[in-house]
Amino acid sequence: MRKIFQSPKGMHDILPKEQVWWQKIREVIDEAAQAYNFSRIDVPILEETALFERGIGQNTDVVEKEMFSLCTKGGDNLSLRPEATAGVCRAYLEHSMRQQRQPVKLYYFGPMFRYEQPQAGRLRQFWQYGLEAIGDLAPVLDAQVCQIFFSILNKLKIKKGINIQINSLGCRQCRPEYKKSLLAYLRVQQAGLCGQCKTRLRRNPLRVLDCKEEKCQRLAKGAPQIIDQLCVSCHNHFKNVLEFLDELKLPYILNTHLVRGLDYYTKTVFEFVPEGKQGSQAALGGGGRYDELVWMLGGKQTPAVGWAAGAERLIDYLKERKIDLGAISRPQVFLAQLGDLGKKKSLVLFEELEKNNLQVAESFSKDSIKAQMKIADQLGAPFALILGQKEALEDMIIIRDMTTGVQDMVKLEKVVDEIKKRLKKIRQ
Ligand code: HAM
Repeated sequence: MRKIFQSPKGMHDILPKEQVWWQKIREVIDEAAQAYNFSRIDVPILEETALFERGIGQNTDVVEKEMFSLCTKGGDNLSLRPEATAGVCRAYLEHSMRQQRQPVKLYYFGPMFRYEQPQAGRLRQFWQYGLEAIGDLAPVLDAQVCQIFFSILNKLKIKKGINIQINSLGCRQCRPEYKKSLLAYLRVQQAGLCGQCKTRLRRNPLRVLDCKEEKCQRLAKGAPQIIDQLCVSCHNHFKNVLEFLDELKLPYILNTHLVRGLDYYTKTVFEFVPEGKQGSQAALGGGGRYDELVWMLGGKQTPAVGWAAGAERLIDYLKERKIDLGAISRPQVFLAQLGDLGKKKSLVLFEELEKNNLQVAESFSKDSIKAQMKIADQLGAPFALILGQKEALEDMIIIRDMTTGVQDMVKLEKVVDEIKKRLKKIRQ
């Protein structure tokens, strides 16, 4: 019998009916990243295997067990990228980006590959979107990159339900001391650890802290905590990051067992976890500081911070939360115009509304107000702005509440603030 082929285990097709979700999240990610001055970078899907060994760490599960590696006909040892941070840092060095204004802010969206046991939220080919700010140590950046994740959620109509789990892993100065006290504690308890953690004890003791086995979790609860042993610089950095998160009103939870699965992290580490769920398995994204990575790849000491998140997990989450794709795409305001002057002024106003992060729709090629109002209605915009010849001459504009039909005249220069005010009111 002829074999019927299927996609490789843990890899999937993105069918036409799914593409609307992908298109929407791509749009939102581009918009949010660019609003914070991150520029798009695409790095190769294959990189030298040694880049990941050196960058991510030879004793990590990702490098030890999960890489798709190959040897080319020319004898090069390459691997499908399991993540993009190492590749982006390689590109930072290769293209002398240190000569640019720091931090260099980059974002990406593309497929990654990990040879994992496929299960819900765990694939062998998955798509990550992520961003990296390379070349600056300021704690405000740790908070700002988190803010961008929440800006993406906000644009996708997710207002709550996701927390930042956050910890600090210290640095070259304080982590070795901490490791010693952790090891001393774990050695006494060794008999109670799972088989894998017994091996971890020798190779990567920090990972015992985030083991999924119940007995290890019980032991981890009594383990010394790294935040109690941070050096002054790491302590102050972490304190500052938390203060910025407070200022931004971002929801965070201190998780002293959060260690992350990649070895390059220093200081801040975090994961974006839906409420009521536990662990990296459930995380929509994760990241942190990696102040040593560029140096480990042969460059100068270069602090950096970033995160990456799984696109499939985000789409599953949106569907689980029954987020209506139509609602995500709904504009906040429709800009209607009439007459030559009205059209000209509308072009400028459109740009100003956009700059103020308002989602604006228009139909400038239509001339009748009735036709434009019909489109505004179909799109579900809560407000329409009408800029006719008379209003344009008087530097005024009409705001129409599309639900009640009530219209008010306001000064053109005040319209952005007025719309923001009204949008805020309907959100409450
Ligand atoms: P990571 O935690 O390994 O970090 O992956 C980030 C996110 O990618 C996860 O939270 C999850 O949403 C998604 N992900 C990871 N593995 C899979 C999988 N097998 N199937 C589906 N989704 C998955 C990193 O990759 C770091 N490079 C993040 C980073 C950037 N740190 C600093 N900058």
